[in-house]
Amino acid sequence: MPTLRYGEHTLNVEDGKTVLETLESAGIDYPNSCRAGTCQSCMMRVVTGDVPDDANRGVNESKRELGYFLACVCRPTTDLEVVGTDASTSTAATVVGLRRCPGDVLEIRLRCARPLDFRGGQFVTLVRSDGLARPYSLANPTGATELELHVRHYPNGAMSNWLAQATPGTELELRGPYGECFYVADDLDRPLLLVGTGTGLAPLYAIVQDALAAGHRGPITLLHGARHSAALYHREELATLAANHPNLEVVASALEVEKGDDVDNTPIDTLALARANTADRSNLRVFLCGDPALIRGLRRRLFLAGVPLRAIAADAFVPAASRNSAQ
Ligand code: FES
Repeated sequence: MPTLRYGEHTLNVEDGKTVLETLESAGIDYPNSCRAGTCQSCMMRVVTGDVPDDANRGVNESKRELGYFLACVCRPTTDLEVVGTDASTSTAATVVGLRRCPGDVLEIRLRCARPLDFRGGQFVTLVRSDGLARPYSLANPTGATELELHVRHYPNGAMSNWLAQATPGTELELRGPYGECFYVADDLDRPLLLVGTGTGLAPLYAIVQDALAAGHRGPITLLHGARHSAALYHREELATLAANHPNLEVVASALEVEKGDDVDNTPIDTLALARANTADRSNLRVFLCGDPALIRGLRRRLFLAGVPLRAIAADAFVPAASRNSAQ
């Protein structure tokens, strides 16, 4: 039976148990959310021993080199000594503002105790003092000092309910940033297509702002979808952005549209494929964020339509594990 060393603890890893489950069995809380190897909330670093290959799938190469892995999918086969993520990826943060937006979306503003080195479109994990953790995308362009998060407020959501009651001065821990979904100014003339549903708008809003700040000249199309048009948020902000940048087109899409509302009721994946078909697909760069099933399906269909997979950045929002209710 492999042993797991973590700080002062030396634990036996039962057959088939993950590092996260082993820590929890010993009463040790460690941040986690999806428990499926997707959100990276449970990132750890191995000091001695080897983690199985599938324990760091999705972790970027430079971090893999440094021994980072995901505790929720790591089933040790040899003895391991592990530590939590580097303290430099964690900082204290304070709530400085909260606004309720359409679609049960909370716009949360945070100030960090130290500057956060992030790229617009990346995500962070918020950790409450009792260890409850949830990942959220940053809606800020690169370099912003006050962070903006878009949080879907779920009626039974442990974290979102708590955030909905936060007041200026509420403290929490912020981990990250994580993720590879951000703008790279390698070709200012290439077409950009950004497709998001719900709070999947947050990273796309950040990416669009970064592209415009970089002087992107190619056409930028941002499609934002919701089931009902009343749930679309940030419409004024997006309209202002589009009015000031002729190369930016913003399209709101909803299956059910309020009478008189200027929203396209074509399914968002149909709109996305139509836009991709009229663009230079060999040079198109696509960003997809939001509902996992939609993102997976659209990624496949765009690939079949001729968009190279390496040109598609996808950021599916995975709900928290059911043991703790939703978000
Ligand atoms: Fe481990 Fe999400 S990746 S909890």
